[in-house]
Amino acid sequence: MNRTIVLLPGDGIGKTVLPESVRVMKAAGFDADYVDGDIGWELWCKEGNPLPERTIRLLEQHRVGLFGAITSKPKDAAAAELSPELRGKGYTYTSPIVGLRQKFNLDISVRPCQSFKGNPLNFVRRGKDGSLEEPKVDAVIFRQNTECLYSGIEWTNPPDNVYAAFQSHPKFKTFASVPREDLAISARIFTRNACRRILRAAFEYAKAHNHKAITVCEKPNVIRETSGMMLAEAKKMAGEYAGISVWDTNIDAQMMWLTKNPEDYHVIVSGNMFGDIASDGFAGLIGGLGFAASANIGDTCAVFEPTHGSAPKYADLSPSIVNPIAMILSACMMLEHIGETAISARIKAAIAKVIEEGKVRTYDMMRLTGSAKVCSQGAASTPQMTDAIIAAL
Ligand code: NAI
Ligand code: MG
Repeated sequence: MNRTIVLLPGDGIGKTVLPESVRVMKAAGFDADYVDGDIGWELWCKEGNPLPERTIRLLEQHRVGLFGAITSKPKDAAAAELSPELRGKGYTYTSPIVGLRQKFNLDISVRPCQSFKGNPLNFVRRGKDGSLEEPKVDAVIFRQNTECLYSGIEWTNPPDNVYAAFQSHPKFKTFASVPREDLAISARIFTRNACRRILRAAFEYAKAHNHKAITVCEKPNVIRETSGMMLAEAKKMAGEYAGISVWDTNIDAQMMWLTKNPEDYHVIVSGNMFGDIASDGFAGLIGGLGFAASANIGDTCAVFEPTHGSAPKYADLSPSIVNPIAMILSACMMLEHIGETAISARIKAAIAKVIEEGKVRTYDMMRLTGSAKVCSQGAASTPQMTDAIIAAL
Protein backbone atom coordinates (compact mmCIF):
# COMPACT_ATOMS: atom_id res chain seq x y z
CA MET A 1 0.00 0.00 0.00
CA ASN A 2 1.27 3.44 -0.87
CA ARG A 3 1.82 6.10 1.78
CA THR A 4 0.02 9.42 1.61
CA ILE A 5 1.76 12.64 2.57
CA VAL A 6 -0.28 15.77 3.29
CA LEU A 7 1.32 18.79 1.57
CA LEU A 8 0.71 22.11 3.30
CA PRO A 9 2.49 24.75 1.18
CA GLY A 10 0.89 27.74 2.96
CA ASP A 11 1.91 31.22 1.83
CA GLY A 12 4.69 33.09 0.05
CA ILE A 13 7.88 31.10 -0.49
CA GLY A 14 6.25 28.10 1.22
CA LYS A 15 4.49 27.60 -2.10
CA THR A 16 7.82 27.71 -3.91
CA VAL A 17 10.07 25.55 -1.76
CA LEU A 18 7.63 22.77 -0.85
CA PRO A 19 7.17 21.52 -4.46
CA GLU A 20 10.96 21.59 -4.85
CA SER A 21 11.33 19.15 -1.95
CA VAL A 22 8.75 16.86 -3.54
CA ARG A 23 10.69 17.00 -6.80
CA VAL A 24 13.85 15.85 -4.99
CA MET A 25 12.08 13.03 -3.14
CA LYS A 26 10.58 11.74 -6.39
CA ALA A 27 13.95 11.86 -8.12
CA ALA A 28 15.47 9.93 -5.19
CA GLY A 29 12.94 7.16 -5.71
CA PHE A 30 10.52 7.91 -2.86
CA ASP A 31 7.13 6.58 -3.87
CA ALA A 32 4.11 8.13 -2.22
CA ASP A 33 0.77 9.73 -2.88
CA TYR A 34 0.37 13.40 -2.03
CA VAL A 35 -2.73 15.34 -1.06
CA ASP A 36 -2.89 19.11 -0.71
CA GLY A 37 -4.10 20.71 2.51
CA ASP A 38 -5.31 24.32 2.72
CA ILE A 39 -3.57 26.47 5.31
CA GLY A 40 -2.53 30.09 5.68
CA TRP A 41 -3.34 33.71 5.13
CA GLU A 42 -5.53 33.35 2.02
CA LEU A 43 -7.77 30.96 3.92
CA TRP A 44 -8.05 33.47 6.75
CA CYS A 45 -9.05 36.24 4.32
CA LYS A 46 -11.54 34.09 2.40
CA GLU A 47 -12.97 31.85 5.13
CA GLY A 48 -12.04 33.49 8.42
CA ASN A 49 -9.99 30.43 9.40
CA PRO A 50 -6.34 29.87 8.40
CA LEU A 51 -6.54 26.21 9.51
CA PRO A 52 -9.81 24.79 8.13
CA GLU A 53 -11.39 21.67 9.63
CA ARG A 54 -10.86 19.80 6.33
CA THR A 55 -7.10 20.22 6.69
CA ILE A 56 -7.20 18.87 10.25
CA ARG A 57 -9.13 15.84 8.99
CA LEU A 58 -6.54 15.17 6.27
CA LEU A 59 -3.81 15.09 8.92
CA GLU A 60 -5.92 12.90 11.20
CA GLN A 61 -6.27 10.48 8.33
CA HIS A 62 -2.73 10.43 6.94
CA ARG A 63 -0.68 11.44 10.01
CA VAL A 64 2.30 12.92 8.16
CA GLY A 65 2.49 16.47 6.85
CA LEU A 66 5.07 18.51 5.02
CA PHE A 67 4.61 22.22 5.64
CA GLY A 68 6.09 25.23 3.81
CA ALA A 69 5.46 28.49 5.68
CA ILE A 70 2.61 30.81 6.52
CA THR A 71 2.19 34.55 6.72
CA SER A 72 0.95 36.02 10.00
CA LYS A 73 0.09 39.70 10.38
CA PRO A 74 -0.79 41.84 13.44
CA LYS A 75 -4.35 42.12 14.72
CA ASP A 76 -5.30 45.29 12.77
CA ALA A 77 -4.03 43.96 9.44
CA ALA A 78 -5.78 40.64 10.06
CA ALA A 79 -9.09 42.40 10.64
CA ALA A 80 -8.62 44.71 7.64
CA GLU A 81 -7.83 41.89 5.17
CA LEU A 82 -10.74 39.68 6.19
CA SER A 83 -13.26 39.45 3.38
CA PRO A 84 -15.97 42.14 3.89
CA GLU A 85 -18.88 39.72 4.45
CA LEU A 86 -17.00 38.08 7.36
CA ARG A 87 -16.07 41.29 9.20
CA GLY A 88 -17.58 42.04 12.60
CA LYS A 89 -18.69 38.41 13.07
CA GLY A 90 -16.23 37.55 15.81
CA TYR A 91 -13.51 35.92 13.69
CA THR A 92 -10.05 36.24 15.25
CA TYR A 93 -6.76 35.26 13.66
CA THR A 94 -4.40 32.80 15.38
CA SER A 95 -1.29 31.28 13.81
CA PRO A 96 -2.23 27.99 12.09
CA ILE A 97 1.15 26.34 12.70
CA VAL A 98 0.90 27.05 16.43
CA GLY A 99 -2.68 25.76 16.11
CA LEU A 100 -1.49 22.52 14.49
CA ARG A 101 1.11 21.97 17.21
CA GLN A 102 -1.58 22.34 19.88
CA LYS A 103 -4.36 20.47 18.06
CA PHE A 104 -2.23 17.35 17.51
CA ASN A 105 -0.06 17.81 20.59
CA LEU A 106 3.08 17.99 18.41
CA ASP A 107 5.08 18.54 21.56
CA ILE A 108 8.48 17.35 20.37
CA SER A 109 10.26 19.85 18.16
CA VAL A 110 13.53 18.63 16.69
CA ARG A 111 15.85 21.18 15.09
CA PRO A 112 19.11 19.87 13.70
CA CYS A 113 21.95 22.34 13.16
CA GLN A 114 24.68 20.49 11.32
CA SER A 115 27.22 22.29 9.20
CA PHE A 116 27.96 21.22 5.63
CA LYS A 117 31.59 21.27 4.57
CA GLY A 118 32.24 24.10 2.12
CA ASN A 119 29.24 26.21 3.08
CA PRO A 120 30.60 29.77 2.90
CA LEU A 121 28.14 30.76 5.63
CA ASN A 122 29.65 28.39 8.22
CA PHE A 123 30.83 29.85 11.50
CA VAL A 124 34.59 30.50 11.71
CA ARG A 125 36.70 31.68 14.64
CA ARG A 126 40.28 32.67 15.22
CA GLY A 127 42.41 29.95 16.81
CA LYS A 128 45.24 30.32 19.34
CA ASP A 129 47.83 30.96 16.63
CA GLY A 130 45.61 33.53 14.93
CA SER A 131 44.61 31.26 12.06
CA LEU A 132 40.98 30.73 11.12
CA GLU A 133 39.25 27.61 12.37
CA GLU A 134 35.94 26.22 11.16
CA PRO A 135 34.63 23.87 13.86
CA LYS A 136 32.18 21.22 12.70
CA VAL A 137 28.80 22.04 14.20
CA ASP A 138 26.68 18.97 14.88
CA ALA A 139 23.95 19.92 17.33
CA VAL A 140 20.29 18.98 17.53
CA ILE A 141 17.97 21.11 19.61
CA PHE A 142 15.02 19.33 21.26
CA ARG A 143 12.49 22.04 21.98
CA GLN A 144 9.33 21.45 24.00
CA ASN A 145 6.77 22.71 21.52
CA THR A 146 3.45 23.30 23.27
CA GLU A 147 3.92 24.84 26.74
CA CYS A 148 5.95 27.56 28.44
CA LEU A 149 5.32 31.17 27.44
CA TYR A 150 3.68 30.05 24.18
CA SER A 151 0.59 28.47 25.73
CA GLY A 152 -1.30 31.75 25.32
CA ILE A 153 -2.34 32.03 28.97
CA GLU A 154 -1.83 35.73 29.50
CA TRP A 155 -3.55 38.91 30.56
CA THR A 156 -3.22 42.66 30.48
CA ASN A 157 -5.30 44.06 33.35
CA PRO A 158 -5.91 40.61 34.86
CA PRO A 159 -9.42 39.76 36.14
CA ASP A 160 -10.18 39.64 39.89
CA ASN A 161 -9.62 35.94 40.45
CA VAL A 162 -6.28 35.95 38.63
CA TYR A 163 -5.19 39.12 40.40
CA ALA A 164 -6.14 37.63 43.76
CA ALA A 165 -4.10 34.50 43.04
CA PHE A 166 -1.03 36.60 42.27
CA GLN A 167 -1.57 38.68 45.40
CA SER A 168 -1.33 35.50 47.44
CA HIS A 169 2.35 35.15 46.44
CA PRO A 170 4.74 36.92 48.85
CA LYS A 171 6.91 38.23 46.01
CA PHE A 172 3.93 40.00 44.42
CA LYS A 173 4.35 42.83 46.96
CA THR A 174 6.77 44.48 44.51
CA PHE A 175 3.86 44.97 42.09
CA ALA A 176 1.11 45.73 44.61
CA SER A 177 1.12 49.47 43.89
CA VAL A 178 0.99 49.09 40.09
CA PRO A 179 -2.45 49.99 38.65
CA ARG A 180 -4.02 46.80 37.37
CA GLU A 181 -4.44 48.10 33.83
CA ASP A 182 -0.67 48.63 33.74
CA LEU A 183 0.05 44.97 34.53
CA ALA A 184 0.76 42.43 31.79
CA ILE A 185 1.18 38.81 32.82
CA SER A 186 2.21 35.82 30.65
CA ALA A 187 2.19 32.42 32.32
CA ARG A 188 5.22 30.14 31.97
CA ILE A 189 3.78 26.67 32.49
CA PHE A 190 5.79 23.41 32.40
CA THR A 191 4.28 20.00 33.07
CA ARG A 192 6.30 17.02 34.28
CA ASN A 193 4.90 14.79 31.56
CA ALA A 194 5.89 17.19 28.75
CA CYS A 195 9.36 17.68 30.28
CA ARG A 196 9.81 13.91 30.37
CA ARG A 197 8.65 13.48 26.76
CA ILE A 198 11.12 16.01 25.33
CA LEU A 199 13.91 14.64 27.54
CA ARG A 200 13.10 11.09 26.43
CA ALA A 201 13.39 12.12 22.78
CA ALA A 202 16.76 13.77 23.49
CA PHE A 203 18.18 10.83 25.45
CA GLU A 204 17.05 8.37 22.77
CA TYR A 205 18.70 10.48 20.08
CA ALA A 206 21.91 10.70 22.14
CA LYS A 207 21.91 6.94 22.63
CA ALA A 208 21.30 6.22 18.93
CA HIS A 209 24.09 8.59 17.88
CA ASN A 210 26.57 7.66 20.58
CA HIS A 211 26.71 11.05 22.26
CA LYS A 212 28.02 11.10 25.82
CA ALA A 213 25.89 13.94 27.16
CA ILE A 214 22.70 15.89 26.78
CA THR A 215 22.68 19.57 27.69
CA VAL A 216 19.67 21.01 29.46
CA CYS A 217 19.61 24.66 28.41
CA GLU A 218 17.29 26.56 30.78
CA LYS A 219 17.89 28.85 33.77
CA PRO A 220 17.13 26.87 36.95
CA ASN A 221 19.16 29.11 39.25
CA VAL A 222 16.62 31.92 38.66
CA ILE A 223 13.49 30.37 37.15
CA ARG A 224 13.49 27.76 39.87
CA GLU A 225 10.14 26.06 39.38
CA THR A 226 9.84 25.54 35.62
CA SER A 227 13.49 25.34 34.57
CA GLY A 228 14.09 23.50 37.83
CA MET A 229 11.56 20.83 36.92
CA MET A 230 13.17 20.23 33.51
CA LEU A 231 16.64 19.83 35.02
CA ALA A 232 15.46 17.62 37.89
CA GLU A 233 13.64 15.29 35.48
CA ALA A 234 16.72 15.13 33.26
CA LYS A 235 18.87 14.05 36.18
CA LYS A 236 16.34 11.37 37.13
CA MET A 237 16.08 10.06 33.60
CA ALA A 238 19.85 9.90 33.23
CA GLY A 239 19.71 6.86 35.53
CA GLU A 240 18.11 4.96 32.65
CA TYR A 241 20.92 5.83 30.21
CA ALA A 242 24.28 4.48 31.27
CA GLY A 243 27.12 6.47 29.75
CA ILE A 244 25.08 9.60 28.98
CA SER A 245 25.54 12.46 31.42
CA VAL A 246 23.47 15.62 31.92
CA TRP A 247 25.13 18.98 31.36
CA ASP A 248 23.35 22.08 32.51
CA THR A 249 23.81 25.48 30.87
CA ASN A 250 21.88 28.70 31.32
CA ILE A 251 20.32 30.07 28.14
CA ASP A 252 22.19 33.38 28.40
CA ALA A 253 25.56 31.73 28.91
CA GLN A 254 24.78 29.22 26.16
CA MET A 255 24.21 32.05 23.70
CA MET A 256 27.69 33.31 24.53
CA TRP A 257 29.39 29.91 24.46
CA LEU A 258 27.91 28.80 21.20
CA THR A 259 30.28 31.03 19.29
CA LYS A 260 33.20 29.97 21.47
CA ASN A 261 33.00 26.21 21.36
CA PRO A 262 29.94 25.08 19.36
CA GLU A 263 31.56 21.71 18.63
CA ASP A 264 31.14 20.76 22.31
CA TYR A 265 27.34 20.59 22.05
CA HIS A 266 25.44 17.80 20.35
CA VAL A 267 22.10 17.32 22.08
CA ILE A 268 20.38 20.34 23.64
CA VAL A 269 17.04 20.16 25.46
CA SER A 270 14.96 23.21 26.34
CA GLY A 271 11.49 24.41 27.06
CA ASN A 272 9.59 26.22 24.33
CA MET A 273 10.96 29.76 24.68
CA PHE A 274 14.61 28.93 25.28
CA GLY A 275 14.47 26.17 22.66
CA ASP A 276 13.27 28.75 20.15
CA ILE A 277 16.20 31.01 21.05
CA ALA A 278 18.83 28.27 21.19
CA SER A 279 17.77 26.78 17.85
CA ASP A 280 17.96 30.14 16.09
CA GLY A 281 21.35 30.74 17.70
CA PHE A 282 22.76 27.43 16.50
CA ALA A 283 21.12 27.84 13.06
CA GLY A 284 23.14 31.03 12.66
CA LEU A 285 26.34 28.96 12.87
CA ILE A 286 25.41 26.71 9.96
CA GLY A 287 24.12 29.20 7.42
CA GLY A 288 20.87 30.56 8.83
CA LEU A 289 17.35 30.27 7.55
CA GLY A 290 18.24 28.69 4.22
CA PHE A 291 19.56 25.64 6.10
CA ALA A 292 17.43 25.31 9.24
CA ALA A 293 15.02 22.35 9.15
CA SER A 294 12.62 21.12 11.82
CA ALA A 295 10.19 18.43 12.87
CA ASN A 296 7.05 18.75 15.04
CA ILE A 297 6.31 15.30 16.38
CA GLY A 298 3.36 13.98 18.39
CA ASP A 299 2.02 10.51 19.12
CA THR A 300 -0.54 10.48 16.31
CA CYS A 301 0.83 12.95 13.77
CA ALA A 302 4.04 14.64 12.69
CA VAL A 303 4.61 17.78 10.60
CA PHE A 304 7.94 18.75 9.07
CA GLU A 305 8.87 22.33 8.13
CA PRO A 306 11.76 24.68 7.50
CA THR A 307 12.05 27.17 10.35
CA HIS A 308 11.93 30.15 7.98
CA GLY A 309 8.74 32.04 7.27
CA SER A 310 6.99 33.02 4.04
CA ALA A 311 9.52 35.78 3.11
CA PRO A 312 6.85 37.87 1.33
CA LYS A 313 9.38 40.21 -0.30
CA TYR A 314 10.73 37.31 -2.37
CA ALA A 315 7.47 35.45 -2.88
CA ASP A 316 6.64 36.89 -6.30
CA LEU A 317 10.10 36.88 -7.91
CA SER A 318 10.32 34.84 -11.06
CA PRO A 319 12.47 32.82 -11.08
CA SER A 320 12.43 32.38 -7.33
CA ILE A 321 15.75 33.08 -5.59
CA VAL A 322 15.31 31.57 -2.13
CA ASN A 323 17.31 28.62 -0.87
CA PRO A 324 15.28 25.37 -0.97
CA ILE A 325 17.76 23.41 1.21
CA ALA A 326 16.00 24.02 4.56
CA MET A 327 12.79 22.67 3.04
CA ILE A 328 14.55 19.68 1.44
CA LEU A 329 16.28 18.87 4.74
CA SER A 330 12.86 19.02 6.43
CA ALA A 331 11.60 16.49 3.87
CA CYS A 332 14.62 14.30 4.81
CA MET A 333 13.52 14.44 8.45
CA MET A 334 10.09 13.27 7.32
CA LEU A 335 11.62 10.40 5.37
CA GLU A 336 13.60 9.34 8.45
CA HIS A 337 10.46 9.54 10.58
CA ILE A 338 8.63 7.10 8.30
CA GLY A 339 11.60 4.76 8.05
CA GLU A 340 13.01 5.80 4.66
CA THR A 341 16.46 6.42 6.09
CA ALA A 342 18.35 5.26 3.00
CA ILE A 343 16.55 7.72 0.70
CA SER A 344 17.07 10.51 3.21
CA ALA A 345 20.77 9.71 3.45
CA ARG A 346 21.05 9.79 -0.35
CA ILE A 347 19.42 13.21 -0.54
CA LYS A 348 21.58 14.60 2.26
CA ALA A 349 24.70 13.27 0.56
CA ALA A 350 23.62 15.01 -2.66
CA ILE A 351 23.10 18.29 -0.79
CA ALA A 352 26.52 17.91 0.84
CA LYS A 353 28.12 17.30 -2.57
CA VAL A 354 26.54 20.37 -4.17
CA ILE A 355 27.58 22.57 -1.24
CA GLU A 356 31.14 21.23 -1.15
CA GLU A 357 31.61 21.65 -4.91
CA GLY A 358 30.52 25.27 -4.51
CA LYS A 359 29.50 25.74 -8.15
CA VAL A 360 25.81 26.24 -7.47
CA ARG A 361 24.94 28.69 -4.71
CA THR A 362 21.77 30.61 -3.93
CA TYR A 363 22.00 34.34 -3.17
CA ASP A 364 22.16 33.86 0.61
CA MET A 365 25.24 31.63 0.22
CA MET A 366 26.92 34.41 -1.76
CA ARG A 367 25.99 37.06 0.81
CA LEU A 368 24.11 39.04 -1.82
CA THR A 369 21.15 41.25 -1.01
CA GLY A 370 18.08 39.42 -2.24
CA SER A 371 16.56 40.88 -5.42
CA ALA A 372 15.61 39.90 -8.96
CA LYS A 373 19.17 40.82 -9.98
CA VAL A 374 20.99 38.11 -8.05
CA CYS A 375 20.80 35.55 -10.84
CA SER A 376 22.71 37.92 -13.14
CA GLN A 377 25.28 38.25 -10.32
CA GLY A 378 25.99 34.52 -10.41
CA ALA A 379 23.46 33.20 -7.88
CA ALA A 380 21.48 30.06 -8.62
CA SER A 381 17.70 30.34 -8.71
CA THR A 382 15.61 28.08 -6.46
CA PRO A 383 14.93 25.53 -9.26
CA GLN A 384 18.59 25.58 -10.33
CA MET A 385 19.66 24.63 -6.79
CA THR A 386 17.09 21.83 -6.78
CA ASP A 387 18.27 20.64 -10.21
CA ALA A 388 21.86 20.52 -8.94
CA ILE A 389 20.84 18.42 -5.93
CA ILE A 390 18.87 16.05 -8.17
CA ALA A 391 21.84 15.75 -10.52
CA ALA A 392 24.07 14.87 -7.55
CA LEU A 393 21.79 12.09 -6.28
P1 NAI B 1 11.13 35.01 7.09
O1 NAI B 1 11.78 33.78 7.60
O2 NAI B 1 9.96 34.80 6.20
O3 NAI B 1 12.19 35.86 6.27
C1 NAI B 1 13.24 36.61 6.87
C2 NAI B 1 14.37 36.78 5.88
O4 NAI B 1 15.15 35.62 5.90
C3 NAI B 1 13.93 36.92 4.43
O5 NAI B 1 13.63 38.22 4.09
C4 NAI B 1 15.14 36.41 3.73
O6 NAI B 1 16.12 37.42 3.70
C5 NAI B 1 15.61 35.30 4.61
N1 NAI B 1 15.10 33.97 4.21
C6 NAI B 1 14.04 33.30 4.72
N2 NAI B 1 13.92 32.12 4.12
C7 NAI B 1 14.93 32.03 3.24
C8 NAI B 1 15.34 31.03 2.31
N3 NAI B 1 14.70 29.86 2.18
N4 NAI B 1 16.41 31.28 1.54
C9 NAI B 1 17.07 32.43 1.65
N5 NAI B 1 16.76 33.40 2.50
C10 NAI B 1 15.69 33.20 3.28
O7 NAI B 1 10.71 35.88 8.35
P2 NAI B 1 9.94 37.28 8.45
O8 NAI B 1 10.30 38.17 7.32
O9 NAI B 1 10.16 37.74 9.82
O10 NAI B 1 8.40 36.90 8.33
C11 NAI B 1 7.68 36.87 7.10
C12 NAI B 1 6.34 36.19 7.35
O11 NAI B 1 6.56 34.82 7.69
C13 NAI B 1 5.58 36.82 8.52
O12 NAI B 1 4.22 36.91 8.15
C14 NAI B 1 5.78 35.84 9.66
O13 NAI B 1 4.73 35.84 10.55
C15 NAI B 1 5.88 34.52 8.91
N6 NAI B 1 6.64 33.46 9.61
C16 NAI B 1 6.14 32.20 9.48
C17 NAI B 1 6.82 31.13 10.03
C18 NAI B 1 6.29 29.77 9.79
O14 NAI B 1 5.49 29.58 8.89
N7 NAI B 1 6.70 28.76 10.53
C19 NAI B 1 8.07 31.31 10.77
C20 NAI B 1 8.56 32.68 10.76
C21 NAI B 1 7.84 33.71 10.22
MG1 MG C 1 12.08 31.12 16.13
